[in-house]
Amino acid sequence: MFWRIVSRANVMDRFRDTDEPWALVTGASDGIGKSLCKVLARRGFNIILHGRDPAKLSSCCDELLVLAPKGKFEFVEADATQPALVQNVVETVSNKPLTVLINNVGYTTGPVQPLLTIDPAEIQRGIDTGVTWTAQLTRALLPLLVQHKPSLIIYLGSYAATHPPPFIALYTGTKGFVQTFSESLRREMRVIGHKEVEVQYHEVYFSATKSNGAPENLATPSPDRMAEAIISAVGSYKGHVIPYWVHELLSWVFLLVPEWLIARISGTVLAKKRTDIGPSQ
Ligand SMILES: NC(=O)c1ccc[n+]([C@@H]2O[C@H](COP(=O)([O-])OP(=O)(O)OC[C@H]3O[C@@H](n4cnc5c(N)ncnc54)[C@H](OP(=O)(O)O)[C@@H]3O)[C@@H](O)[C@H]2O)c1
Repeated sequence: MFWRIVSRANVMDRFRDTDEPWALVTGASDGIGKSLCKVLARRGFNIILHGRDPAKLSSCCDELLVLAPKGKFEFVEADATQPALVQNVVETVSNKPLTVLINNVGYTTGPVQPLLTIDPAEIQRGIDTGVTWTAQLTRALLPLLVQHKPSLIIYLGSYAATHPPPFIALYTGTKGFVQTFSESLRREMRVIGHKEVEVQYHEVYFSATKSNGAPENLATPSPDRMAEAIISAVGSYKGHVIPYWVHELLSWVFLLVPEWLIARISGTVLAKKRTDIGPSQ
């Protein structure tokens, strides 16, 4: 929480220190990803929006142009369930001085049910989207981010990796991978002399997006508010940050609650959303 007092609002300027700063946001056609694009556009970044729906992506680019008429906005279509398509993104980005990579796309809309009943093909889909895509994209773009440092890599994570509830083991597993991958990469960048490649894992609790489906309230901020919090939290310089203040307060409360109780409460909530037996009241 202390970083909120000392962090500088203009910290993103550090990653705009080139004639034409470019950012790439994955899963940028909706939710937090789209909102992150709006925040970055307002801060003077040109943006490549990644997603799977060209019509939605094109309309997002139009919206961004209204917001930031001097900005350049392009999109690249690549279904993250097919990690071989990382190559499409690399081709779009490779001639640009990329300084910001936001790995926002994840395995978000998976089934809520016991692993016992999950279709094995769904497991592959979850891992392709939430693990392989992210690792391969990072690997492919890392040389560009090293070349144009200071640069920034953000991974969108979830409280579910910290307090993994029942019925969403595949989802929590993918986020657990992202969490440790991010921290390890952060340490590695420092050890091999690329300290100026900042790597951060941003732990999100809830946001009122399509995949969450919950209405907006104080604990469930709109994607716009969540995105503002994420970009502000870059100034924390922490490897693992809980960007939204209410979520950080909740994380402290959780420290006082035994883990078995957290698991029981979250399990009760998720049991009502089970996709194998239909939602219960
Ligand atoms: N919202 C929350 O409460 C919450 C909580 C914890 C963590 N998070 C994390 O925050 C990130 C963003 O979540 P969100 O709630 O903003 O999600 P969202 O509203 O569902 O938006 C997801 C974005 O990713 C795109 N996308 C999904 N699957 C894709 C695929 N296979 N290939 C290419 N693009 C794909 C979507 O494209 P379309 O527009 O075509 O659907 C959309 O642009 C995720 O990593 C999520 O795990 C969210």
